[in-house]
Amino acid sequence: PRKIILDCDPGHDDAVAMILAHGNPKIELLAVTTVAGNQTLDKVTTNALVVGTIAGITGIPFAAGCARPLVREVETAGDVHGDSGMDGPAQPESTIELDERHAVDVIIDLVMSHEPGEITLVPTGALTNIALAVRKEPRIVERVREVVLMGGGYHTGNWSAVAEFNIKIDPEAAHIVFNEAWPVVMVGLDLTHQALATADVVQRIEQIGTGPSQFVRELMDFFAQAYRDHQGFDAPPVHDPCAVAYVIDPDIVRTVKAPVSVELRGELTLGMTVTDFRAPASADCNTSVAVDLDHEGFWNLVVDALERIGEV
Ligand code: BDR
Ligand code: CA
Repeated sequence: PRKIILDCDPGHDDAVAMILAHGNPKIELLAVTTVAGNQTLDKVTTNALVVGTIAGITGIPFAAGCARPLVREVETAGDVHGDSGMDGPAQPESTIELDERHAVDVIIDLVMSHEPGEITLVPTGALTNIALAVRKEPRIVERVREVVLMGGGYHTGNWSAVAEFNIKIDPEAAHIVFNEAWPVVMVGLDLTHQALATADVVQRIEQIGTGPSQFVRELMDFFAQAYRDHQGFDAPPVHDPCAVAYVIDPDIVRTVKAPVSVELRGELTLGMTVTDFRAPASADCNTSVAVDLDHEGFWNLVVDALERIGEV
């Protein structure tokens, strides 16, 4: 299996990413680390522990990371994820204990104690922890297999006309991550807006009939309402598990190599992931962008993961 560290800010779709990573046999989840984003660090960390409890994710570290972006003030997404960051389903007390280490140290410790090329980083929130880890221990860059991140987009934004939330709230961190010499796969809005939890998808999840599937179903109900009210979507795009799906099976998420630069100074374009498709990418281009999703194949993976998790 592919070893991954999931760095996230649960978040309805982060929760589904955790469940997919845990329930899929091709993935070995080594740690869940958290970063401020959808809500404050305290809230998203509590949510990660709750999801871990509901899905039975045991025996791995859960660690809290940065409480704010590198340069900018904290910005959260209460409109989309509610006051708790994961509004909707009832949330049980978690039975998982938080690791005492900072997320950045957990990431560094894991990457440095594994063989080069073994670990893939999957960030589904702001890139603050990953950027800080690189600055603290630059040798992780040559040891990480690839960074498969949910963030950005090359044709549209959601936190401004042209910038996506995870990149926009900490553009300096994103700049660091995109500019290191490791392979970066940008699973952005171009791709994740194809990952809609349509009525038939929600029905399939409902029919699994377990506690964890009921939890996901209730997450999707809240998420659907939020996307209807605030973004004009008929069905909600379930962004974050798309990055995990790419690691599981790159045939489900088709990518194209292209240089990506993060806008740090634009008055209207701050946080835009400017992607250059003008010519075939050069051999030393380290970035690729996700373009096409196999919708059916993607949701099959999510349903399969929930079926394997079963009743916890
Ligand atoms: C991203 O922002 C967050 O609200 C979601 O969890 C996802 O990671 C989508 O723009
Ligand atoms: Ca997220």
